[in-house]
Amino acid sequence: MEKLTGLNKLKTAIFISGTGSNFNNLIKFSKIKKTPISINLVISNVYNAKGLRYADQINIKKKVFNFKDIKDTEKKILILLKKEKIDFICLAGFMKILSKDFIQKFNGKIINIHPSLLPKYKGLNTHRRAIANKDKFVGCTVHYVTEKLDSGKIIMQKKIKVTAKDSVASLAKKVLKQEHKLYPAAIMKIFN
Ligand code: GRF
Repeated sequence: MEKLTGLNKLKTAIFISGTGSNFNNLIKFSKIKKTPISINLVISNVYNAKGLRYADQINIKKKVFNFKDIKDTEKKILILLKKEKIDFICLAGFMKILSKDFIQKFNGKIINIHPSLLPKYKGLNTHRRAIANKDKFVGCTVHYVTEKLDSGKIIMQKKIKVTAKDSVASLAKKVLKQEHKLYPAAIMKIFN
């Protein structure tokens, strides 16, 4: 993709459902000089998602949708994305599955971070499954979003060694720390 500088930063929406540590981290990344993105919108399916507070801190527009009627919700989201001139979407702990139609409208412009070394452990409880399988390494992956869950082309991955002392909680902590490095690095990789 073309190199983005100064005025033509990519208008980005972040989709979250929970604590939003990746969202907060991407906000920080969007403020550094060499960043290719500006964050203009945060969308959530959870009204009291903790991460939404980061939007208040820096005055980013936030919008919550209940997703009861997925088709109708996606229609509303698409209108909002158009209105805000959003051209890039980062899913960051977003727990809803977007439809094929929605993804096609943003083809190649939606990315996600997942707490495993994909293609291993798509879906939930990645660290629990890694421990149950006595894996020697865990990790995180940034990938393009396609209609198949956690299956799009991998942009970047970080491998982390599992030690004998590790638990699900310790792995979650270690992996999340690496996610905060990996997500900005993957965005840099796409646009530079
Ligand atoms: C992260 O582990 C991410 O990989 C997964 O959900 C978690 C979100 O954490 N998809 P946070 O809300 O960014 O703190």
